[in-house]
This record gives sequence, C-alpha cells and structure tokens, in this order.
Amino acid sequence: CVPWYGIRDAILGGIFHGACGDEARASVRLAFHDAGTWILEGLPNGGADGSMLWDAAEVLRGSNSGLQAIVRTLEPLPTQFDVSPGDILHVVSLPQLACPGGPRIKTYSGRPRPSHVAPDGLLPSPNDSVKKLTDRFADMGFTVRDLVALIGAHSTGKQRFVDPSVAGATFDTTVDLWDVAFYQETDLSTTFAGNFKLNSDVNLAHNKTSAREFRRYVGNQGDWNKDYTTAHEKMSLLRQDVTALTDCTEIMPASIDLTPLRSGLVVDPIKLEAALQKYRAPWL
Ligand code: HEM
Ligand SMILES: *[C@@H]1O[C@H](CO)[C@@H](O)[C@H](O)[C@H]1NC(C)=O
Ligand SMILES: *[C@@H]1O[C@H](CO)[C@@H](O)[C@H](O)[C@H]1NC(C)=O
Repeated sequence: CVPWYGIRDAILGGIFHGACGDEARASVRLAFHDAGTWILEGLPNGGADGSMLWDAAEVLRGSNSGLQAIVRTLEPLPTQFDVSPGDILHVVSLPQLACPGGPRIKTYSGRPRPSHVAPDGLLPSPNDSVKKLTDRFADMGFTVRDLVALIGAHSTGKQRFVDPSVAGATFDTTVDLWDVAFYQETDLSTTFAGNFKLNSDVNLAHNKTSAREFRRYVGNQGDWNKDYTTAHEKMSLLRQDVTALTDCTEIMPASIDLTPLRSGLVVDPIKLEAALQKYRAPWL
C-alpha cells in the first residue's frame, strides 16, 4: 500500500483541500455512477471498474450531468501514479476521506483496468418510484436496506440540474457533514430554505416498502454508519474479485466522529473546526 499514501495526499490535500466540499461530494456521487451500471445477469456489464475515468462517451451521458468537472480533475491520476482508474475512483470516493462523520470503509486496491464502456440506461432517475428503485438495486445485489443506507449519501449533496432555477440547493441543512439530518428532513412535510427534495428520496421516505428502514436512521448515526459501510463496500466491489485485491484501509485518515462535537442536536462549528485542525491539518 506504500504508493497509496502519496496518492491519498495528492487527492485529500491537492484536490479536496481537506474539506467536504464540491470535489469530495462529486467524488462520492461518481462512485455510484461508475459502479451503479452493474447487473448481476448479463454482459457486457458495468461495475466498479473506473470506466467513468476512462471513457469520455460514458461521462457525457445526461445521467452524469454535473460529474464532468470531477472527472477532468481525476483523469490524469491513474497515469501519474501508475494505478488503475478503478482504484483511483473507488478510493477517492470514500466519504471518510474528507467528510466529517464519514465511517471507516474498507479501502481496496488492485482493480484491473476497465475494458469496456458501461451499458447506458441503468442509473436511476430522480422521479423513479420505489418499485423501480428497489428492482434496479436488487438487480445489482442490493437489499432495500442497502439502498436506503446508500441514499443517505445525499446527506452531502447539492442539486444543479433537476431544477436549475435553484441550482446549488442542498439535500439537507448540513451539507458539509456526513450525518443523518437528511433522513429526518426528507421525511418531513416541510422543506427548509435552501434545501431541495428529490422525488425519489421522498418516495423512499414515505412508501411502506422502505419507510421503516428510512425512519430507522432518523437520529441514529450509529446504525446508518454500520449499514452504509456494508453497502458502500459492496458497491465498491461490484464486478471485482475481492480475493485478488489488497486491503489498504491503513491509508485512510482517522474518521471524525460527530458525537463529541454536538451541543444538543447541532454540531458546534467551533468544535468542528478544532476537529478538522486536529485530524486533517496536513491536508487543509
Ligand atoms: C437511488 C437513486 C438515486 C437517485 C435517483 C439519485 C439522484 C441524484 C440527483 C438527481 C442528484 C443531483 C444531481 C445534480 O442535479 O447536480 C444527486 C446528487 C448526488 N448523489 Fe445521488 N441519486 C441516487 C443514489 C445515490 C447513491 C447510491 C449515491 C452514493 C452512494 C449518491 C450520491 C450522490 C451525491 C454525493 C450527490 C451530490 C453531488 C454534489 O453535490 O455534487 N446518489 N443524486
Ligand atoms: C419529475 O417530476 C417533476 C414533477 O414532480 C417534473 O416537473 C419533472 O419534469 C420530472 N423530471 C423528469 C426528469 O422526468
Ligand atoms: C410503494 O411501493 C410499492 C412497491 O415497492 C408499489 O407497488 C406501490 O405502488 C408504491 N406506493 C406508492 C404510493 O407509490
């Protein structure tokens, strides 16, 4: 894993500047758009292979709107460090790297280079019904629990293309934190100023197929972290043979636990800044 310390520094320092900002958030979404083209049955196939950093046509699809800038930024790294696009993509996208609250997810290297463009039409749309979402995620091997846990990545998210008139609106009130505010706020009938709800997220919150799983995470960062970790690890390994990969989790910086940073329900900005200085100083 030795080369990965330098790669980590180039990404976390040089690109993210130690922060859960636009680049870090786009990277988390990129992981899903790379891997989420997987189908258990059928070839040719997508999966966590880094094709999004390798094939320009895939990146230009409408479903990938908003990811072009992060792709341009990350594209030179595989050549620069002589590692595969899939490894760069699926290491850079682990939320723990830059987002306070992000759980420790196993970090693998050794994915082979991508060999073909992922099939089109497999990524979900923000108007999809719960039936459509659960069927599509089941096709990839994900349970309803996995889906509902993964969707919490919208905790650090902004929309720009669903309603361009409110571009930059966030999916919860704490966009710079990897927290469970998203679950509570999506479930509410009101929408806070500056926020935006995707129909698909509201469907997951309200439909009885998923509502129990969804509400289980309200105020429950511990269970969400656990389930998200399982589901994201699975996502980062779609198409991959884990026995051929190396576990390089050791390169990950410490996770920032939000619990001691809270004053009542809210994360205290002064304590947050102190934690960032303590755990992310080399990269800020
Ligand atoms: C299940 C169906 C999903 C749908 C329909 C969906 C849809 C969307 C849409 C429409 C946006 C806003 C894009 C824009 O207008 O700029 C978005 C953003 C985002 N999505 Fe999803 N998504 C889904 C699942 C996921 C999953 C599984 C992950 C990661 C594990 C994820 C991570 C993100 C992130 C981090 C952003 C914010 C990106 C940014 O702020 O630049 N999404 N998603
Ligand atoms: C999604 O539904 C909204 C109405 O809720 C509609 O305005 C919008 O055009 C739809 N978007 C897509 C991509 O179908
Ligand atoms: C809820 O989801 C189920 C299947 O997942 C679907 O059959 C049903 O139509 C959905 N209900 C609503 C109100 O969308």
